Amino acid sequence: MKMEGVAAVELRNLYKIHSGRDVETVALRGANLSVARGEFLDIRGRSGSGKSTLLNLIGGLDQPNAGQVVLNGVEITHLHEGERAAFRRSHIGTVYQQDNLIPFLTALENVLLPMELAARPGREKRAQELLAEVGLKERLHHRPAQLSGGERQRVAIAVALANEPDLLLADELTGELDSATADQVRWRCPSTSSFI
Ligand SMILES: Nc1ncnc2c1ncn2[C@@H]1O[C@H](COP(=O)(O)OP(=O)(O)O)[C@@H](O)[C@H]1O
Ligand SMILES: [Mg+2]
Repeated sequence: MKMEGVAAVELRNLYKIHSGRDVETVALRGANLSVARGEFLDIRGRSGSGKSTLLNLIGGLDQPNAGQVVLNGVEITHLHEGERAAFRRSHIGTVYQQDNLIPFLTALENVLLPMELAARPGREKRAQELLAEVGLKERLHHRPAQLSGGERQRVAIAVALANEPDLLLADELTGELDSATADQVRWRCPSTSSFI
């Protein structure tokens, strides 16, 4: 199969119903989307319109009630839990609305962690470079609680980029970031990766 021409992300008729104890919310009603390799996509909508739901489905953190999520031609909705986790680890970087940093590790250690898990060579240098590029070279040894919200999100971006993901997903990224940093993050991504 040729990879050129295969969309980085393809959502086909996606439905997601959140079932609570006594309420059911239809968060997505037949969503379709196609994102090309190298594309930068900004999804906007009112609070509650389903943006986080959509990102969690693309990131394989949640399962749709119906429809398909196809990433680089791979249908992740049919993968088993473990396979989906492995796919996520090797292809997707995610920055969540509430940053997901490990509180007792420093900024540098947080960025190192995913590279240690992947046994990536040259990780110490790369972790320092990534943090410098998001403007945090003076904050390498701070723990998350010692950083501002925007700084924590920038560490989370460096964590997400550590293993060069094909796809970077960010939820409400610019909420905590000035636009100059947001642009820089965009340029940091390899040209073949996509950013939503
Ligand atoms: N775990 C959940 N249980 C029940 N309802 C949920 C859950 N998560 C989200 N929802 C509902 O789904 C809708 C979409 O939520 P969300 O995707 O978080 O929106 P957005 O990110 O655009 O603000 C909202 O109405 C929200 O209340
Ligand atoms: Mg949201």
